[in-house]
Amino acid sequence: MKSFEFYNPTKLIFGKGKLDTLKTEVPKYGKHILLVYGGGSIKRSGLYDNVNAILKEIGAQVTELSGVDPNPRLSTVHKGVALCRENNIELILAVGGGSVIDCAKAIAVGAKYDGDMWDFVERKTTPKDALPLGTVLTIAATGSEMNGGSVISNEETKEKMGWGSPYAYPAFSILDPVNTFTLPKDQTVYGMVDMMSHVLEHYFHTEENTPVQDGFCETILRTVIDTAPRLINNLENYEDRSTIMYCGTMALNGMLNMGYAGDWATHNIEHAVSAVYDIPHGGGLAILFPSWMKYNLSTNPERFKKLAINVFGIDPAGKSAEQVGEEGIQALRDFWISIGAPSRLADYDIDDSQIGIMAEKTVRFGPFGNFRKLNKEDVVEIYKMSL
Ligand code: NZQ
Ligand code: ZN
Repeated sequence: MKSFEFYNPTKLIFGKGKLDTLKTEVPKYGKHILLVYGGGSIKRSGLYDNVNAILKEIGAQVTELSGVDPNPRLSTVHKGVALCRENNIELILAVGGGSVIDCAKAIAVGAKYDGDMWDFVERKTTPKDALPLGTVLTIAATGSEMNGGSVISNEETKEKMGWGSPYAYPAFSILDPVNTFTLPKDQTVYGMVDMMSHVLEHYFHTEENTPVQDGFCETILRTVIDTAPRLINNLENYEDRSTIMYCGTMALNGMLNMGYAGDWATHNIEHAVSAVYDIPHGGGLAILFPSWMKYNLSTNPERFKKLAINVFGIDPAGKSAEQVGEEGIQALRDFWISIGAPSRLADYDIDDSQIGIMAEKTVRFGPFGNFRKLNKEDVVEIYKMSL
């Protein structure tokens, strides 16, 4: 295990009816609020009215930024930054999923910076300050509600890239599982694939002594596998929605990966696909993760064997580590297919015509991946395996 420091400043407020805590949280930061939300799901569910009723009750002055797209765009970030400046915004309140929260994080740092927020994504400089951010989460998936990461798409250059900063952590996040009841089955599945992928990104590391961390990861994976089939058949089951919401947050809030760095190559490979084809992040991961695993099985077969036995219950008797590992990879693929996730790029009508361009995007900052460094040629192979 490597030396580490851990600090997560986000106040997590979890449970039924917790939206009411807006009454005490919001006034801590000021009266001028930028309310950021997506394409209308919160209006249909009634959450928009509930949030606004509370903001009115506490006398907040609300400016709205609506229409944040899935795979949020830089142009929306620019709009939000301008609104913050024009309206002396003191707190950004993001109500929605990872896209809305990521966009709000970019606005929060952009509002305190004289140049273009994209400079942070391009690693030209780092944020030195941000407006405070609160979130009300409506989809269990990214973990953005309790981390300092964000992913923004630049529609002009067709790039989708992650960035992060200690300034981008939400000050508070309200997680009421009831707010995820209206999430349709496909998005629920994408969310579960995404959180499992975050755990898998952690799991494929190169440290040797991480027994507690590995056990935490395996528990979350087994829990999602146990819960998902029930949840997709009863989308309004409070207990299952709670379990999945908790898994999503824990998968990417820094708790699992203390003392080691995960791999993160597959996320980079998926972001390039989303950048070119604008597909859902979780859908892309369901296709690409098993391919990455097959491609890297020989790097450390024992690691794949451990996953196969402890998460998928594969019987290792009389088999090599590679055979057991391969059965585990197939079990993961089969599980994702069983809950309705895609398994081939062809499921999104994606052929091989853009593979070179996508692979080029993944190596923008050089070879990547901590479990094994990948270069452009490796990525091309992984895309080909996923067609
Ligand atoms: O826009 P609205 O109308 O709200 O609809 C959304 C959207 O169409 C809908 N939705 C959300 N909550 C709902 C709901 N529909 C009905 N009922 C509800 N309760 O779901 C659709 C998808 O929403 P989105 O926010 O895009 O999903 P998600 O949370 O999966 O976020 C995906 C984005 O996050 C990035 C991804 O790359 C992608 O851009 N990621 C962010 C990370 C982070 N910040 O740490 C890490 C992740 O690995 C990921 O890369
Ligand atoms: Zn993800």
